[in-house]
Amino acid sequence: MSGEFAAVDVIRAKRDGHALSDAQIDWVVDAYTRGVVADEQMSALAMAILLRGMSGGEIARWTAAMIASGERLDLSAVPRPTVDKHSTGGVGDKITLPLTPLVAACGAAVPQLSGRGLGHTGGTLDKLESIPGWRARLSNEEFVGQLSDVGAVICAAGEGLAPADRKLYALRDVTGTVEAIPLIASSIMSKKIAEGTGALVLDVKVGTGAFMKDEADARELARTMVELGKAHGVKTVALLTDMNTPLGLTIGNAVEVAESVEVLAGGGPADVVELTVALAREMLDAAGIDADPARVLASGKAMDTWNAMIRAQGGDPAAALPVARETEVLRAAEDGVVATVDALGTGLAAWRLGAGRARKEDPVSFGAGVVLHKRPGDAVRAGDVLLELRTDEAARIPAALADARAAVTVAPGAPTRERLLIDRIA
Ligand code: URA
Repeated sequence: MSGEFAAVDVIRAKRDGHALSDAQIDWVVDAYTRGVVADEQMSALAMAILLRGMSGGEIARWTAAMIASGERLDLSAVPRPTVDKHSTGGVGDKITLPLTPLVAACGAAVPQLSGRGLGHTGGTLDKLESIPGWRARLSNEEFVGQLSDVGAVICAAGEGLAPADRKLYALRDVTGTVEAIPLIASSIMSKKIAEGTGALVLDVKVGTGAFMKDEADARELARTMVELGKAHGVKTVALLTDMNTPLGLTIGNAVEVAESVEVLAGGGPADVVELTVALAREMLDAAGIDADPARVLASGKAMDTWNAMIRAQGGDPAAALPVARETEVLRAAEDGVVATVDALGTGLAAWRLGAGRARKEDPVSFGAGVVLHKRPGDAVRAGDVLLELRTDEAARIPAALADARAAVTVAPGAPTRERLLIDRIA
């Protein structure tokens, strides 16, 4: 026993289905961060939370304790309303790239602290690092300075932000406890609240390529996070969006940057544009700014902000992006209509090609990925290219091709169209 409580009593309480007291929560989160509660004890507690759940009050307190484990950024010197977006992660989800400069070009300041990919979902920092010279790490002073000058920053979260979450997330990853809704909600919201944003829009993904495969779970996660934001004075809204099909036509790093630049230039795939504009509207509304993001996108102002944002972090927005050495194509075996392009299968294919990493210390290949030539609803003839695989290592192609082949189905008739925007939770 150390301090006020014994870790084993806190574990037993949750194991037996009791609510933890505020004092127990404050103590266990702090003691774990300091190394007083051991990894094996926190693993047992995380599993008890996964199996028994937590009340709204417990989740709010747990989140507050995680925020209190580190620093809370002060953005009060930024001369515009601050608003951020968080996506729970998906395949081809490059929306942060066009959205951040778009919302900044509409008059808000967007403090985007982003992460790297693990498994089949890509990370925003990995994508941006494919731009020659761009750097992800900024000091707190650089972060606030760029937010004030450019209005848009996408960078890595500093070590000082919610350190309890960093430690706990790594533990959950290896103990089968990532999926607990109270732990996901408190993990995401502790970082967003500590970052100091005034308002937040959540893009909660549902489908095969998402964390939440089931709509009811995604709704519960969205509701829990919206309540946590409100309890901490951050105006928070969530959109539930489809992740059965990848977003856009590209999955990878450099290929997703190139597609995002197309959107900023007024083109790009319709679904990427639709979601970017829908999230921008929500962010501007939450920040109290009256602007039309569709018009600002068409005006080219968002592209100017993108160029300024990339340059401010050492990147050259005009530089050629890395291109993979090897390519392979998957062709349609028969005539018909594309029925499915499965997000998980194509995400796994991109990961196998080297676009993602298996362990967090692995490098990613910037040029690797998948480029879709067809989307659900497109008519095809036998022999047409369905998608293209790109990699730096030819040996990666056979396994990726098998995943890609299983992910795309062609049927005689047209598929029913999936809704991209499923619901809004405020
Ligand atoms: N993303 C996070 O930051 N935390 C989680 O627990 C899950 C996804």
